Amino acid sequence: MTVTVGFDVYGTLIDTHGVVDMLSQYIDEQAQMFSQTWRDKQLEYSFRRGLMRAYENFSVCTRHALDYTDALFRAGLTDEQKRNLMQIYSVLPAFDDVESGLGTLQQSGSSLYAFSNGSADAVETLLTNAGIRKYFIDVVSVDEIRSFKPDPDVYHHFKKRAHVTDDNVWLVSSNPFDVLGAMSASMKAAWVQRTQAAIFDPWEIEPTVTVSSLDQLADKLINQ
Ligand code: LAC
Repeated sequence: MTVTVGFDVYGTLIDTHGVVDMLSQYIDEQAQMFSQTWRDKQLEYSFRRGLMRAYENFSVCTRHALDYTDALFRAGLTDEQKRNLMQIYSVLPAFDDVESGLGTLQQSGSSLYAFSNGSADAVETLLTNAGIRKYFIDVVSVDEIRSFKPDPDVYHHFKKRAHVTDDNVWLVSSNPFDVLGAMSASMKAAWVQRTQAAIFDPWEIEPTVTVSSLDQLADKLINQ
């Protein structure tokens, strides 16, 4: 069966902890925690901007979150170091299982889209640099309607952009908030739980499927 699938980008296709290597050169042993706080704050800022209807491009959330995290950790990063960290956000690597999983799904005739909080330009560059742009029909960005996940409007916008005419439309994400957001907007959703340490939000709604890799996802979606 062929399906339409929207893939979350940051944290699902692309490993945002790829910044840890660069951070390690600047702040040593705090790099891992700094990276996690930066990511958490980036998402929090997007949630708040969505609720406040005070939209700014996702890269603004990322930069403000970097400034916040720098202050919190008293890291004293220079402007140049911050610029380098923002720059590396466009050359982050894909997770190891991504290329084979996307390849299998593409060959099955499924319609694959990237669907992200990131601007279309930023996501195009990121996916091209990671060598996986070729698997997607298009990049759908929340920027087109100036809101952020998990606003239901952005999931409805995705369905419109992907010309979905039935219920066989999926969101694939490692981010539980994204899975819940898509399901609340009547999409099916796959949660990619790459490590057992990842916990799903206890909201009494289960993902349609849970997989540990995109290879496993391909099996499930093709044979559903
Ligand atoms: C995205 C963020 C939520 O790519 O990871 O949309």
